Amino acid sequence: MAIREILTVPDPRLTPGIGLAAIQIGVPLRVIVMDLAREGEEPQPRYFVNPEIVETIEETKPYEEGCLSVPDIFDQVERPARCRIRYLDYNGNQVDEWAEDLYAVCIQHEMDHLEGTLFIDYLSRLKRDRAIDKVRKAKIRAIREDAN
Ligand code: NI
Repeated sequence: MAIREILTVPDPRLTPGIGLAAIQIGVPLRVIVMDLAREGEEPQPRYFVNPEIVETIEETKPYEEGCLSVPDIFDQVERPARCRIRYLDYNGNQVDEWAEDLYAVCIQHEMDHLEGTLFIDYLSRLKRDRAIDKVRKAKIRAIREDAN
């Protein structure tokens, strides 16, 4: 069985993570998990297998996004405000529903992961390059600290 690092509080990576695509832990399947419950609320885990966006509305909304794969970087991304999605749920039942607000942002962000797109790909070239550079430097720092 694969061994995975367990993140513990107060690791900031735990708090912004409301969704995760399987590929982010190196699993090449079209699977997404999500939990939009706020702190103190009952967990509301959702599972999406082979999700598709079948319709979007023209109106877009900006949202300050972050990503577990791009730690400590946050920026505004503009996406369709509502989208209709089709997927298989945890029990293999087909679901066809409209997503809006944070749900719409999150599912579009996670579905981008399935195509290899990150939220920083929507930023200017300069901001994107800076973000990648910052993550790379933080990683090198973490490796050095581990070695000491
Ligand atoms: Ni992400």
